[in-house]
Amino acid sequence: MSEWTEVAKTADVPEEGTFPVQFAGQPVCLYKLGGEVYATHDICTHGNANLSEGFIVDGHIECPFHQGMFDIRTGVASAAPCTVAVRTYPVKVEGGVVWLKPA
Ligand code: FES
Repeated sequence: MSEWTEVAKTADVPEEGTFPVQFAGQPVCLYKLGGEVYATHDICTHGNANLSEGFIVDGHIECPFHQGMFDIRTGVASAAPCTVAVRTYPVKVEGGVVWLKPA
């Protein structure tokens, strides 16, 4: 499957904030950094926490449970206790709409 799917309006995603959506049956978190939209799986790889309820710090999302962190652009785990990267998704913004496709 390589189809792009509309998941949100660009305006739904706050600058330096998060916006949770469902995509391909999975919880996904959208972010906006410097006007660019990014997407990761919404569940922390350390436990059952929603990253969309976390805080953005310098381009990283801080998990609300144990304060582990991930680089929003790459998904790489950047602070303990997280060690496993979170999945990222290709994002396309067109006509004020955010589109995702499977990684
Ligand atoms: Fe995210 Fe533990 S559940 S850091």
